[in-house]
Amino acid sequence: MADRRDFLKATLAATAAVAVYGVESASACMPCPMGKQGAGMPGILYTKQNPGMWAGKEAGHLPQVTVEGNKVTIETKHGMSEKHYIVRHTLVGDNGEVLGTKTFYPEDEKAVSTFELPEKCSCKMAIATSFCNLHDMWVTPVMLGKQA
Ligand SMILES: [Fe+2]
Repeated sequence: MADRRDFLKATLAATAAVAVYGVESASACMPCPMGKQGAGMPGILYTKQNPGMWAGKEAGHLPQVTVEGNKVTIETKHGMSEKHYIVRHTLVGDNGEVLGTKTFYPEDEKAVSTFELPEKCSCKMAIATSFCNLHDMWVTPVMLGKQA
């Protein structure tokens, strides 16, 4: 279990770094299997630009993100049933800090989570993730910035 958590943390941090700093800069500080920026991590993370083997499933799996002030809402427009559902959302800042997580259960009506950014959050960007129990992990970059 710890190995899986370590893998997920490293994957999220690498993805956040690549999204913010680009492949070359991120690769300078950590090993990164990314090909080109925006390509995702084929076979591991799926993006709008690279849905990989799940092409055609983007609409129901990409995290949709809205930022209002210091609140970030993530929604995955995906059904929720015992056999097929969204397991988890995470929001990870560009510094690797986990800004929020929410675990879902099949009986939940919707996969929607809202996170309040920490008062001293210096992140300018973040990565929102959504994990489907059948269709793996999808990521969407998020601009945070200062918004009223
Ligand atoms: Fe799915």
